[in-house]
Amino acid sequence: MMCLLLKAQINSLKNVIMETDKDLVTITVLKAGPLLVKGPVKLIHADGTEEGKNGAHLCRCGGSANKPFCDGSHVKLGFEK
Ligand code: FES
Repeated sequence: MMCLLLKAQINSLKNVIMETDKDLVTITVLKAGPLLVKGPVKLIHADGTEEGKNGAHLCRCGGSANKPFCDGSHVKLGFEK
C-alpha cells in the first residue's frame, strides 16, 4: 500500500516537472554545430541593442560572419566539438 502511494506521489511530481519544462527556454548543443535555443529570449548585442527572438542558432565554432548567429560556416571549417 505504501509503495502505491509513493509511486503516485512520484508520478505527480513528474507531471509537475513536465508542466514546468514547457515554459523553459532550452539550449541544445548540436553535435559539430551551433547552440539551438528554443523559446522566447531577449538577445542583447555588444552595442546594447536588443532583439526579441523566439529561438535562434548561436555560433559556437567562432567562424560565423553573422555572430552571434550561426551562418553554417561550421561545416566548411570542419568543426567537430
Ligand atoms: S556554429 Fe555554425 S557558424 Fe559557427
